[in-house]
Amino acid sequence: MAESPLRTDGPAALEWAASYLERVGDLPVLAQDKPGAIRAALPAAAPENGEPFSDLLRDLEDVLLPGVTHWQHPRYFGYFATSASEPAILAELLAATLNSVAILWRTAPASTELEGVVLDWTAQLLGLPTGWHGHIEDTASTSTLAAIIAGREATGRDLVVCSEQAHASVEKAARMLGMRLRKVGCDDEFRMRVDELGDLSEAAVVVATVGTTASTSVDPVSAVADACAEAGTWLHVDAAYAGTAMVCPEFRWAFDGVDRADSLVVNAHKWMLTPVDCSLLWTRRPADFRAAFSLVPEYLRTPDAEDALSLSEYGPALGRRFRSLKLWAVLRCFGRSGLQAHIRSGVRLAELFEGWVAAEPGWELCAPRPFSVVCFRVSGSDERNRELLERVNASGEIFISHAVLNDRYVLRLAVGQMSTTQASVELAWEVLRDAAAAVS
Ligand SMILES: Cc1ncc(COP(=O)(O)O)c(C=O)c1O
Repeated sequence: MAESPLRTDGPAALEWAASYLERVGDLPVLAQDKPGAIRAALPAAAPENGEPFSDLLRDLEDVLLPGVTHWQHPRYFGYFATSASEPAILAELLAATLNSVAILWRTAPASTELEGVVLDWTAQLLGLPTGWHGHIEDTASTSTLAAIIAGREATGRDLVVCSEQAHASVEKAARMLGMRLRKVGCDDEFRMRVDELGDLSEAAVVVATVGTTASTSVDPVSAVADACAEAGTWLHVDAAYAGTAMVCPEFRWAFDGVDRADSLVVNAHKWMLTPVDCSLLWTRRPADFRAAFSLVPEYLRTPDAEDALSLSEYGPALGRRFRSLKLWAVLRCFGRSGLQAHIRSGVRLAELFEGWVAAEPGWELCAPRPFSVVCFRVSGSDERNRELLERVNASGEIFISHAVLNDRYVLRLAVGQMSTTQASVELAWEVLRDAAAAVS
């Protein structure tokens, strides 16, 4: 019998992965290829006969790598910086090896039950109420879509309400579902204005955000929960990014009122050291999710009493992959203290950067910084800031993104990569100041 490719090619693939993580800090953060370059460098059709895996590894290095924007880079500061930690990378390999497809409890008991266990563990780590039902979706966009569907089912209404700073996934969900959307204004710290919520009697769902995409502001969830309770409206909390920070008691203020939410999303693939995709969705009303999503055709009916646990009955997907394995690896290999250290490191580095901006003439901070994202700009026009962003990103030294706050273009530095050190942030500041001197 031929030797398994896992034995013959596995060591080289693992070596590639390990050496990539060691050298990624020396590569340009932003992909240097022009659009179309990768397609042009690859054959137009699959080979007739199989090729050695080593050829693929060679092309990964030579052809694909120049087209990779390196999210694992210590100076990746764009959007929300994320990390795929090594234990979770290994767990992905093992999950693919098992290739469990959790359409029913019976088709994947271990995957189904581990998902419940890791969601319970994580709920405890984040200080959530006991007894919430949790499952994993691919992304926060899907989690929020599912929550809005459950809220619509539970209320029979067709209006979604969120703040003007809510993530675009809320508007997209409303649009896909043919529901109406009402956006509520924000105060001068980009938090939802509860006094503008207005009449919620027709609202199916209010989405409050803990850690908005632009500035990481925190909506007053407790006051929003009061308004929802009075109107019989479903409260969904989007803590896709900031939720992980709740592992540290000093950030729990931001979850005040979340215990009264009907559903909550936290992306493990943002700040929880878990490779994309892994979005954690909890609800205290699992029966409403089940009512909205359960549709079991004859071919999937079994006599197993445990089929009540089939997680495909709580969301859009039927075939669900073994995502809990990588989160289990993170929780076991880092533990509470490891996760806390990761969060605190990111926040400390962001705080340092914030201090440098505040102290530098000609620069300004543009929003409060509750977590690890700093919003700032250099004096002058939006155009100058835009040019600055393009220049620093083109340098390959750092990668940052932007937002618009109060109608002004602002730069965002998001710390969250686990390999980011103080030296990384210092270099970012140096690159930004040098580039600012060159753009008028
Ligand atoms: C607050 C918030 N919610 C939702 C999302 C969407 O996340 P996903 O890419 O997992 O759909 C993002 C993305 O950054 C976000 O910032």
